[in-house]
Amino acid sequence: MKVLVTGGLGYIGSHTCVELSKKYSVVIADNLINSKIEVLERLNSIAHSKVIFEKIDLRNKKEVAFLFEKHGDISGIIHFAALKAVGESVEKPLLYYENNINSLLNILEQVQQRNSKINFIFSSSCTVYGQPIKLPITEEEPVKKAFSPYGETKQICENILSASSKLNKYLRSISLRYFNPIGAHESAMIGELPLGKPQNLIPYITQSVAGVREKLTIFGDDYDTPDGTCIRDYIHVTDLADAHIKALEYLIEKEFSTNEVFNIGTGKGTSVLEIINAFESSTGKKISYKIGKRRKGDVDATYADNKKALKSLSWSPKYSLEQALESAWNWEKNYRKIK
Ligand code: NAD
Ligand code: WQD
Repeated sequence: MKVLVTGGLGYIGSHTCVELSKKYSVVIADNLINSKIEVLERLNSIAHSKVIFEKIDLRNKKEVAFLFEKHGDISGIIHFAALKAVGESVEKPLLYYENNINSLLNILEQVQQRNSKINFIFSSSCTVYGQPIKLPITEEEPVKKAFSPYGETKQICENILSASSKLNKYLRSISLRYFNPIGAHESAMIGELPLGKPQNLIPYITQSVAGVREKLTIFGDDYDTPDGTCIRDYIHVTDLADAHIKALEYLIEKEFSTNEVFNIGTGKGTSVLEIINAFESSTGKKISYKIGKRRKGDVDATYADNKKALKSLSWSPKYSLEQALESAWNWEKNYRKIK
């Protein structure tokens, strides 16, 4: 079975391709807007079967049509490709609407023209919930007004996929709402590779410990949490990759068209200060930090109720927070050739 992985050279996509390659034939479509071509070689060095790469800009209808013509035997699609920087999306909303929404529309247009079954997994985010009403967050939590154009694109794409699945009897789809993916493949050959200054906590920590960035600023210690710093649900990227395989298998088993959503998180909340302690104890490295102002748009606490995925997808996270943090540091060391 052939699976198309859009955005497969990115962080989560590359880890998912490694897991997929154990059982499926994998085609990546990526335009390298937020990834480097060197990831392909690194990925193929640990993949179980060779992954094919197509340099495609999914905003371009003609290129997408060419992709589907060339790989007419695709029966699974995992759609990671999107721009994902929350702050940038506030500054450049049109770029985010254009990239994230048109990419999905162009793919679905091709899917619509086929008359064979297709299993589709969409990368959604816990950001669709905004400020949660109840913790842990279940899939029943209402989707509220998005904090950013990025978050809004995830809500719109979920809606587009749902509408399309109702119309197309061949389309079976799932939106996976990820919480905070962290860490790297155990080989340390692939990992998170942000272009420019990292906006997310873990790559900022590993780069600051590697001496590439200034000391970490904790964005606020006056939140309504036990130690005052924000709480998030950090999940190892390999566990997240595995959730895609399980979701794909779940869809393959489905006889009829469907559209579902699942939270993918560990179910456990960890504060920024707890992350710092866990990183220091699992790697033996000290993190220098200072307390700064709150970052606009941050919510006090989010963590998943993951029971639906545990039950229906027969998935469960395997890695501890310490293992995830250690793998993030091993990747940083390996990439920067630090002893
Ligand atoms: P990433 O930026 O590392 O990977 C995305 C990939 O998509 C990149 O390789 C980029 O070049 C490619 N891409 C973007 N626009 C494209 C286009 N028009 N045509 C072709 N390729 C394009 O991001 P990631 O962290 O791997 O995230 C993957 C998906 O998961 C995204 O949809 C993101 O919104 C979602 N997500 C990420 C997180 C997170 O914290 N990393 C959390 C929740 C959801
Ligand atoms: C985690 C915590 C920060 C950096 C983002 C997106 C979300 C989803 C997941 C895509 C927060 C604090 C961070 C720093 C800090 N992505 N922090 N100093 O904001 O929970 O979620 O990624 O869908 O949509 O918003 O993740 O890693 O940026 O922050 O103190 O230098 O670390 O305030 O409490 P976040 P993050």
